[in-house]
Amino acid sequence: MALAIVLGLASLALAAPSLVARQAITSLTTAQVSAFKPFSFYASAAYCSPASTLAWNCGSNCAANAGFKPVASGGNGNSVQFWYVGYDPTLATVIVGHQGTDPSEILSLVTDAKFFLKSLNSTLFPGVSSSVEGHSGFVDEQALTASSVLAAVKTAISRFSAKKVTIVGHSLGGAIALLDSVYLPLHISGVTFRTITYGMPRVGNQAFADLASVGSTVTHINNKEDLVPILPGRSLGFHHPTGEIHIQDSGVWDSCPGQDNTSDLCTTGDVGNIFEGNSDDHDGPYDGVTMGC
Ligand SMILES: *[C@@H]1O[C@H](CO)[C@@H](O)[C@H](O)[C@H]1NC(C)=O
Ligand SMILES: *[C@@H]1O[C@H](CO)[C@@H](O)[C@H](O)[C@H]1NC(C)=O
Repeated sequence: MALAIVLGLASLALAAPSLVARQAITSLTTAQVSAFKPFSFYASAAYCSPASTLAWNCGSNCAANAGFKPVASGGNGNSVQFWYVGYDPTLATVIVGHQGTDPSEILSLVTDAKFFLKSLNSTLFPGVSSSVEGHSGFVDEQALTASSVLAAVKTAISRFSAKKVTIVGHSLGGAIALLDSVYLPLHISGVTFRTITYGMPRVGNQAFADLASVGSTVTHINNKEDLVPILPGRSLGFHHPTGEIHIQDSGVWDSCPGQDNTSDLCTTGDVGNIFEGNSDDHDGPYDGVTMGC
């Protein structure tokens, strides 16, 4: 009895500080910010042509991660966004990169009323409840490349005996990456997944945001007053998963707990409506990396 109480108190004492730490908005250290840089270049490289990512000669974005071993690439940059898959031996992870769009195109995707929330395709997302819904435009776009990306990731895992897969993308590419973060683990086991997105719009409903928050494997980085991450609006039923990092006007990177944190240190609180937003912040720079090829 007494022992149980002592153990109980001990675990309480251990649990309490970490609970507080998890909930606070904390600034990243310089080293923590720098650790994202390779992934920022990988997200930016997804804007380069499939031929140049397959040869890994896409210019400065490729040169920044010179040791990368490409496996496959695809898309036409028009009806199908570019993508590529390969392996980074330094970071010991498979990389999946998805191309985004320029600010005007992504803004029309997230403000056009012809798009709506719909259930995920049960062939691609087996076992996922029909209550989990995503933006129809993003869901359709992810479906176009899903099977090719899956096959390439499986090839990369076996070729390099990989234990980690990291999915990256900016803007529309971030939305596709977030859908991939739910999709790929349904078909691949034995590896850990991580997803890092930049300027990502809201992708789905509350049930989708909750599913994408499981395991806290997603980080979505938002730059200053970028308005894309506040669209489509929460009033239309769209929500972000956990894992936001908000880059302040000062350049400090703050980690925001919860979903759609309304603190003015986080995007949902800071950019109250589209008039407070600035699409010039959409492409970055993210610690010196401006998205695009
Ligand atoms: C779901 O995905 C499968 C496989 O890509 C496809 O054959 C099927 O047509 C899709 N279903 C719907 C309703 O879009
Ligand atoms: C936002 O962050 C604060 C910490 O400053 C936390 O207490 C609060 O619960 C968070 N809000 C949401 C909606 O998660």
